[in-house]
Amino acid sequence: MQLLQTRAELLRWRQAEPAPLHFVPTMGALHAGHAALVHRATQTASTGAGLPRVLVSVFVNPLQFGPGEDFNRYPRNLESDAALAASAGAAALFAPEPAELFPGGEAELTRLVPPDSLQRGLCGRQRPGHFNGVATVVARLLGLVRPQRLLLGEKDWQQLVILRRLVADLGLPVQVWGCGTVREADGLALSSRNRYLSPEQRAQAVALPRALARAREQAWGRPSANLEALSAEVAAELGQAGLVVDYVEAVDPHSLQPCPGLGRPVLLAAAAHCGPSRLIDHVFLMSRQPIVAIDGPAGAGKSTVTRAFAERLGLVYLDTGAMYRAVTWLVRQRGVDPGDATAVAPLLENLDLRLSTAAAGGQQVRINGQDVTEAIRSPEVTAQVSAVAAHGCVREALTRQQRVMGERGGLVAEGRDIGTAVFPDAELKVFLTATVAERARRRAKDLEQRGFPVPEHAELEAQIASRDHQDASRTVAPLTQAADAVELITDGLGIVAVVEQLVQLFRERVPEDAWPEPQA
Ligand code: PAJ
Repeated sequence: MQLLQTRAELLRWRQAEPAPLHFVPTMGALHAGHAALVHRATQTASTGAGLPRVLVSVFVNPLQFGPGEDFNRYPRNLESDAALAASAGAAALFAPEPAELFPGGEAELTRLVPPDSLQRGLCGRQRPGHFNGVATVVARLLGLVRPQRLLLGEKDWQQLVILRRLVADLGLPVQVWGCGTVREADGLALSSRNRYLSPEQRAQAVALPRALARAREQAWGRPSANLEALSAEVAAELGQAGLVVDYVEAVDPHSLQPCPGLGRPVLLAAAAHCGPSRLIDHVFLMSRQPIVAIDGPAGAGKSTVTRAFAERLGLVYLDTGAMYRAVTWLVRQRGVDPGDATAVAPLLENLDLRLSTAAAGGQQVRINGQDVTEAIRSPEVTAQVSAVAAHGCVREALTRQQRVMGERGGLVAEGRDIGTAVFPDAELKVFLTATVAERARRRAKDLEQRGFPVPEHAELEAQIASRDHQDASRTVAPLTQAADAVELITDGLGIVAVVEQLVQLFRERVPEDAWPEPQA
């Protein structure tokens, strides 16, 4: 691993190789939490252009310490930091002196001031100017390093929110990734400042994660839980353990403003003094597990990417399209006219429709005990599914089933009206689409692979356009884009690239601390 101490050395190292560069800024005194960021940074390339190189910076930033804070005694040990960064997979460590980073001095430096709404509350209340200092140094470092990706810990949630906003507001060409908090076995979040604790204080400190975890358990399954009461209980528990509470606040995780209730995940954050250390920690209060809604026209590749996305994030894949196809298959099998709602309705009574994950990882669909996984993909079912799905009775029966499956959350559902009608309170809504020409190309390829005859391209396009029109104009559950859905046009994108974008969108809304990535 290279040790770089000047801007010139950094520049030379940067120019030596074209590989994507991922950046982990730190103040040193590195621990396993920092190492996890470095390790994560080595894993996937931001551009698909080969494995990334990871640069770690170590700089105890004077701009972010207030008078009377621990700037002078902040632990500094470059040698052990270099060893840890190297073993975690860093290619270089940038450790400049203040005069190297701020050659014009600090007094005349251009400062960045994040919005008041983000820095007034939580840690900002007791540490005025702290986040100006963080924003200023990180912007300076980003200007020098120019990475494709910036990795930050969710541990410092307010800092992560502020730096995400900085990148967005300045239009900086860098992707921000938040990584879940790494903890000791007893739950205490790793922090460079834990080194200040005596053994007795270390034992006391565990009250912080414990009180927060208890609040999380109390909120689970209770959308009407009283957030003020929960915060007050945490504060009381910390006081009883001998910690001096700085704040315990329940706020919206993105705006950092007070929030009315638990309809969406809530950040419960706390800071408390334990002897010489000021400890911070948080939990996300949720009344259920997260839900992702993916809507869009037929043939946009929804089911393929949704399946891969679900697997990547450990969510259950609720394939609502397969549910409608299964009913269509039943309608055909019973010889019922697909356009006749009164004839279709009796088939829905005592309907036993099950979605499960097959041993090979794929999804299995059974209707009334019969495995129809393959049969529901036939062109005949494809041709009639819109007509069957257009019946109010079909939609009601299946929506009811979907809502029951969604009560616990922890799923991603895909269809036409998931974000508007079935799960209007989903954490992430995506409208996944592609042009008619692109979808016709994909459909032709798919039919060919399945061994079905492939119609002329123009005919396929006409079929798709007509199905779009039918789906968008039908009276029952028309295809609509929710007002708060993100539109993702997948023309020219491969499955991996689309899944990456979905993961990025999910992670901007649902932190790893709230929904960790499944361990491979
Ligand atoms: P520092 O406290 O050294 O943290 C560096 C990075 O490591 C931050 O993104 C922080 O959130 C992350 N981190 C710290 N403890 C962690 C843990 N237990 N689990 C996961 N990640 C953890 O934060 C700073 O330095 C500075 O403010 C900085 C951004 C470098 C600007 O000076």
